[in-house]
Amino acid sequence: MRVVKEDRNITGGEGQGGHIMEEITRRMFMKKGAVMVGGVLGAPALVGLGTRSGVARAGAPVFPESWCRVPDAAKPRVLIAYGSMHGSTAGVAEAVSRALCDEGMKAEVQRVETVNRVSDYDAVIVGSAVRSGQWLPDAVDFVQSFRDVLAERPVAYFLTCLSLYQDTPETRRRAAGYMTPVLEAVPKVVPRDLGLFAGVLDYTRYNVVMRMVMKRKMEKLGVPEGDHRDWNRIQAWAERLVPVISDERVPLPAVSG
Ligand SMILES: Cc1cc2nc3c(=O)[nH]c(=O)nc-3n(C[C@H](O)[C@H](O)[C@H](O)COP(=O)(O)O)c2cc1C
Repeated sequence: MRVVKEDRNITGGEGQGGHIMEEITRRMFMKKGAVMVGGVLGAPALVGLGTRSGVARAGAPVFPESWCRVPDAAKPRVLIAYGSMHGSTAGVAEAVSRALCDEGMKAEVQRVETVNRVSDYDAVIVGSAVRSGQWLPDAVDFVQSFRDVLAERPVAYFLTCLSLYQDTPETRRRAAGYMTPVLEAVPKVVPRDLGLFAGVLDYTRYNVVMRMVMKRKMEKLGVPEGDHRDWNRIQAWAERLVPVISDERVPLPAVSG
C-alpha cells in the first residue's frame, strides 16, 4: 500500500515552509518498527477503539497505533504521536489516548515514523523516550518536519525517562532539560504543556553491551529494574490537557505532568 506523506517540510530551515509530498511505503515502516497487535497496556479498553497492526514477535516491544471514535463530530480530533525504542512510551501514549477518549475527544495514537499528515487534527501531542539526555531523533524530526502545521495548532509534549524514578525538584529539572534540544531546534512550535514521566527499566530489552552500560549507570543512580510508569499521574496530566488543547485561547507553556 502506498502512503502519501503530506504536511512535512523535508527541506529548508526553520520557517522556510513549503508543502512537499513524499511517497513512501507503509511496508518500509512495518519492517523498521515491528508494529504489533495490542498495546503495552493490554487489550484496548475503549469503546470504538481500533488498532492497526503488523507482524508480531514474542517478546518484542509493542508499538501500537490505535484510535477511538466518538459520535460527536464537534469534538476535537487529537493526534498522539510517539517515539519509542522499547515500547514503554507507546504505553504512555495509549494511556493519554484512553484518558482523552474518556473525555469525549477523538484521539489517535501513531508512531512518529508513520504519521503522514497532521493537518487533519485539531491538536497534537508529541511524546518520546529519552536517550542520552534528549528525545529520540525520529521524534525531533517529526516536530521539525511538521513545524508549520504544528505551529498553528495547540501542541503538548511529553517524555519518558528514568531520571524521574525519584520525583524530586532536582530530577524534574533534569527531565525538563531533556526537552531543551527540541525546543531550541524548533522554536516555532511552542508546546502548551510538558508532561514528564518515569519510564521502564527492563534489561531483557537490551543487547549485551547496552545491558552492561545501563546496569552500571542505573545501579549508580539507584534505579531498580521495573516498570516505573505512574498511570494515575499520566491520566491526570491527560485530563488536565483537555481544556488546554481544546481552547485556542489558552496560552500556557507549562510543566504540569
Ligand atoms: C540507551 C538508553 C539511553 C537512555 N538514556 C537516558 C537518559 O539520558 N536519561 C534518562 O533519564 N533515561 C534514559 N534512558 C531510559 C529511557 O528513557 C527509559 O527506559 C524509557 O522508558 C524508554 O522508553 P521506551 O521503552 O519507549 O523506549 C535511556 C535508556 C536507554 C536504553
